[in-house]
Amino acid sequence: MSSVTVRVPAKVNVQLSVGPLREDGYHDLVNVFHAVSVFDEVVAKESDSITVSVAGEWADQVPLDDGNLAIQAARALAKHAGRTYGAELIIHKSIPVAGGMAGGSADAAGALVACNELWGLGLPVEDLMEIAADLGSDVPFSLLGGTAVGTGRGERLSDAPTGGEFHWAFAVAHGGLSTAKVYAECDRLRESSGAEVPWPQLSESLLAALRTGDAEALGARLGNDLQAAALSLRPDLSQTLDAGREAGALGALVSGSGPTCAFLATDADHAQRLADTLTALPTCRTALAAHGPVPGPRPV
Ligand code: C5P
Repeated sequence: MSSVTVRVPAKVNVQLSVGPLREDGYHDLVNVFHAVSVFDEVVAKESDSITVSVAGEWADQVPLDDGNLAIQAARALAKHAGRTYGAELIIHKSIPVAGGMAGGSADAAGALVACNELWGLGLPVEDLMEIAADLGSDVPFSLLGGTAVGTGRGERLSDAPTGGEFHWAFAVAHGGLSTAKVYAECDRLRESSGAEVPWPQLSESLLAALRTGDAEALGARLGNDLQAAALSLRPDLSQTLDAGREAGALGALVSGSGPTCAFLATDADHAQRLADTLTALPTCRTALAAHGPVPGPRPV
């Protein structure tokens, strides 16, 4: 095979509960991931060495050096296989960069699946999951897709059944936020409040809303412990959240570490109307309508 193309989705966290800071610098989480229909495409072509190039709206913001997660993924896979392999990776980006929608993790997951196929390794998803966890806390979910509960750093996953489709609008902000800085701001706000940080608990009523496909109930239960930190770093996001709520969103929250904001809609038309309203805001670079859950990376 001389070329493999894989389509890989973005995510939103419908529950993101953040426990106390651990000694290793991470936080224990209860992280309910939900894959949505905003996709990057990762192409892997036969080559002598591992290289990456990026095309698409957000291309200029993606690092092409060793910081690129897709390159790291391909190298880690070659190392795992114990051989020197090459691949020319070409990423077509539609997922906002540094936006809280796991775009970098999606590219890493796409590179793992594409190179596994290109190099004829035939590794099972369990092996890819192990490599993924070393690349980043969200990469294992990006391999899995669907809807899943993550614990630990977010890398220990169990599937969460869903009853039907949910419709979303995503407001993409100008510029990005560093995940590490948002977690650090969360710690700072907690320290200055002096309140004890509870151990994160999975919301059973949120799981029930997902299981029964009850968008209204899900909207009322959306929650993100990083939201206060993201708003502290980017106060303009509260205008975006308010505008979506006023436009009838069933629920509104910052996606992951932000700055993308996510709005749950009643149906696909409502999601598009929300996206049209949000696009017109000065606080938004653009807005997208999408649905979830969608499956993880698939060769196309
Ligand atoms: O795992 P990943 O490289 O994506 O994490 C980026 C940063 O986000 C970490 O360096 C850490 O500061 C923060 N993080 C955290 N707790 C988690 C996941 C990420 O503090 N569970």
